[in-house]
Amino acid sequence: MTYDIVIRGGTIVTATDTVVGDVGINGRHVAAIGQKLEGRQVIDAAGLLVMPGGVDGHCHIEQDEADGTVHEDTFDTASASALAGGTTSVVCFSNQLPGRPLVEQFEYYQAKGRRSRIDYAIHQIVTRADEETLETGIPRVVELGAAGLKIFMTYDDFHLGDGDILKVLSAAKRANTLVSVHCENYEAIAFLIRQYLERGETAPYFHALSRPPVVEREATYRATCLAELIQQKLQVFHVSCPEVAHEIARGKARGVPVMAETCPQYFVLKSEDMNREGFEGARYMCSPPPRTPADSLGLWECVRQGVIDVISSDHCGYSYDGPRGKSRHGRDAPFSVVPNGIPGLATRLPLIYDEGVNKGQITLNQFVALVATNPARRYGLYPRKGSIAPGFDADIVLWDPRRSVTITNSMLHHAIDYTPYEGRSVTGWPVMTLSKGKVLMQDNVIMDGAPEGEFLNPRAL
Ligand code: URP
Ligand code: ZN
Ligand code: ZN
Ligand code: ZN
Repeated sequence: MTYDIVIRGGTIVTATDTVVGDVGINGRHVAAIGQKLEGRQVIDAAGLLVMPGGVDGHCHIEQDEADGTVHEDTFDTASASALAGGTTSVVCFSNQLPGRPLVEQFEYYQAKGRRSRIDYAIHQIVTRADEETLETGIPRVVELGAAGLKIFMTYDDFHLGDGDILKVLSAAKRANTLVSVHCENYEAIAFLIRQYLERGETAPYFHALSRPPVVEREATYRATCLAELIQQKLQVFHVSCPEVAHEIARGKARGVPVMAETCPQYFVLKSEDMNREGFEGARYMCSPPPRTPADSLGLWECVRQGVIDVISSDHCGYSYDGPRGKSRHGRDAPFSVVPNGIPGLATRLPLIYDEGVNKGQITLNQFVALVATNPARRYGLYPRKGSIAPGFDADIVLWDPRRSVTITNSMLHHAIDYTPYEGRSVTGWPVMTLSKGKVLMQDNVIMDGAPEGEFLNPRAL
């Protein structure tokens, strides 16, 4: 048997196994793992790790906002950035806009994804619990292939009260889909923001102080209890610190179907990063905010215990400068009007590899589980995405574990004018990314060609 491509002599790493050998690829699929395989094209992987391409379960790409703006990173640029960082599938967000039926928005957003270079699935954000949304919208978008729903307990344009959350959880249960939730107490944050603004404390650092761990912990406890009441599966997004993870562990212990995701920023950034000269701190502003170094260390323990089992980027397409950027209202604007979120699609794997694997916090197999296999399972993309085995899509990253790189924004290929990780050095870097059997990134060069990303419908894989 001669395969189309053989990736020869690398260390093949999955969530469960590590073997030195060859991967045989035919067309878009992995066809074999073995020794001395023959291929029409041979890629030498000696000294490299051969891992499933990353599955990023939480990326805001070309997202439509209620104020009429659209996130700056498009499917074209964001998917290039994903490839540069070894990620081969994304789950992004269709946002429910005022006055627009849920199904219409889902189909509109799904069509934008045709410009993606890599495969994409979609979470549907639900911002209101009216009859049309509950009775028609939710069941229909799930049929059309939504990977799940996202709801918010904070943000003026998004937040749902407890009654509406219960309605959405019930509708999701009927439609048999996952609900992911942004847990922060809306009223408590509004109270704190008012207090800081009245005192003239408007700099970016007060963003962190206005969203302390207790507002996230309380909302996480409440969301977990609401899920308990309905017996509906719930994922808490972007868990920022151990005290929040502990609420989820308590929920799990009493049998609530609750799960947790976290993101690289909670391991490598800190709230003090927002405490810089002038407006510079806005570069690190996301919600929940990064916490303390002790919190970051404690989060690894929650990962090892399995309380947190998915790491996504929460990539957000806001530049620092420009009309849609963080400074859109000026560099002296109060923190409360600065858009939240930071870019992170390309840097997710390198940061978690460096902080997690190199520093002995997790094993290589746990790394693959956290960034690829577990998210693929959670969003219904497995067994097509998330591992290397016969029958899986040949979505593969070749990783040089010895390569040291100083991160600069110019190497990330996104449409955003900064990275919060500028100047940070990491060891371990993707040198080649294949999507469905095609080399789409080599040595930080993104291959030209028509976009071949396909919509991933978990109900029809
Ligand atoms: O600050 C953040 N995370 N912005 C993105 C939207 C969200 O909450 O996930
Ligand atoms: Zn969120
Ligand atoms: Zn997000
Ligand atoms: Zn297939």
